[in-house]
Amino acid sequence: MPELVVAPYAPSLIESMRSIGYSLESAIADLIDNSISANASRITIRYSPYDNPYVAILDDGYGMRPDDLTRAMRHGSRNPWDIRAANDLGRFGLGLKTASLSQCRKLTVVSLKDGELSARTWDLDLIAEREDWIIYVPEQHELSEMPLVNELIKQAKGTVVIWENLDRIVAGEPNINQALTEKMDLVRVHLAMVFHRYLLGEQGINRIKIHLNNNPVATYDPFLVGRSEPLQDEFITVENSTVLIKPYILPHRSKLTPDELSLAGGEEGLRRNQGFYIYRNKRLIIWGTWFRLTKQEELSKLARVRVDIPNTLDHLWTLDIKKSAAHPPDEVRQNLKRIVEKIVGNSRRVYTFRGRRTNDGKLVRSWNRIESRNGISYLINRTHPIISAFSQTLDEEGKNTLELLLDTIESTFPADSLYADMASDHPRNYEESDIENKLRMIAQCLLHTAGSIEGGEERLLTSLPMLDPFCDYPQITASLVKELKNVH
Ligand SMILES: Nc1ncnc2c1ncn2[C@@H]1O[C@H](COP(=O)(O)OP(=O)(O)OP(=O)(O)O)[C@@H](O)[C@H]1O
Ligand SMILES: [Mg+2]
Repeated sequence: MPELVVAPYAPSLIESMRSIGYSLESAIADLIDNSISANASRITIRYSPYDNPYVAILDDGYGMRPDDLTRAMRHGSRNPWDIRAANDLGRFGLGLKTASLSQCRKLTVVSLKDGELSARTWDLDLIAEREDWIIYVPEQHELSEMPLVNELIKQAKGTVVIWENLDRIVAGEPNINQALTEKMDLVRVHLAMVFHRYLLGEQGINRIKIHLNNNPVATYDPFLVGRSEPLQDEFITVENSTVLIKPYILPHRSKLTPDELSLAGGEEGLRRNQGFYIYRNKRLIIWGTWFRLTKQEELSKLARVRVDIPNTLDHLWTLDIKKSAAHPPDEVRQNLKRIVEKIVGNSRRVYTFRGRRTNDGKLVRSWNRIESRNGISYLINRTHPIISAFSQTLDEEGKNTLELLLDTIESTFPADSLYADMASDHPRNYEESDIENKLRMIAQCLLHTAGSIEGGEERLLTSLPMLDPFCDYPQITASLVKELKNVH
């Protein structure tokens, strides 16, 4: 059978591959994946919009020898089916080239290993001219002029990736300086998020530091470990590999200090970033989604679920080349759905608990929560002592007016507005300043009524801590009871 070799036509294919869909931040993250896989602990990103604008990324990983570097520059340097080390963040053998050339027309990689400094360059204009997959070797004397190369030499090992001719980054931008600065702000936020476990450090991974134009990339912890309520871990076994699921319920917004709030992603992060956080080898791939397994309700926003997937399951998660999309396979989905229902229930509890504990039979509340077939309603507790005491002072007509009043309050209860306020991040104002006096007045009023019954005062003072609103202020109530016992 006759066979023909149909090699790709370099100028067209390499131009088309620029449109895989990388953003600047996902492209830089892809290079940092390589640095982490090379055991780097310090990564420096430097950019300049002036003269010959560039972006350069230096790491102190194990570097490459000249032959390794040539291989690394080849598209498809590794097969996606190769078995990789458990800490290897690569998969396709493409990222270094596709990520870089999606942003620039000229990519130079300089690497230093065992005292050997080597460099290779892909230049799209050269490929267009020569119509072939040609890389070239920059002259040694050119290297010292390149950004971050002197720093690389000082480190004695590592790799610098340099992007020049930043046509895509600055496309359509009238002010390159402003455009690059704004885009790099997004890069900073993205890297803080995607590599937060590497930046925070945890058992089993090398901690990294990333500097962007001399400023360190902040650490970020979407789970506020140590402050959140961790729920039970779950394990799902898929094809002999284990997917580990760790759900967390964050504390209510009003309980967070400003530092904790910013660690959790700020107001905006708190509101938007609920859901699953899917990690591949501890590197965040996708976050802030429930995969449509539950509605992204306001009330479930405190729930965040860490899902750790090993790279042995890449084929099931339809991981894309940019490593920014992944869809859970069906058997994992089923389990996630079950887990999510449990978790969202727990997240709601943090809210309802803060609002008001539902009746547990012991406390005497001024409001009762009534569940019926038609839904949930809140009714004023007519047997609460303050209401029955007041009612006793009224004649029949007064009693009817009181009932009308209570009924009006109940039927105009602003449930919708309360729901929205509870779920929003505004702290609620309880006006607690004068509460002690208010409680004293209520207690005295109740004692007055109770005084007409034999042993009534004593019984009232004993039950006061169980009574709304006293039960919400146990300390004030305890000293009040003591004070009133002495008087009566
Ligand atoms: N900073 C680096 N330090 C050391 N080796 C590197 C570095 N960057 C790339 N390499 C080498 O070059 C190879 C090719 O990198 P590239 O990013 O193109 O593919 P990959 O990481 O194997 O897979 P993926 O396409 O999923 O990123 C890597 O497998 C690695 O051996
Ligand atoms: Mg890679």
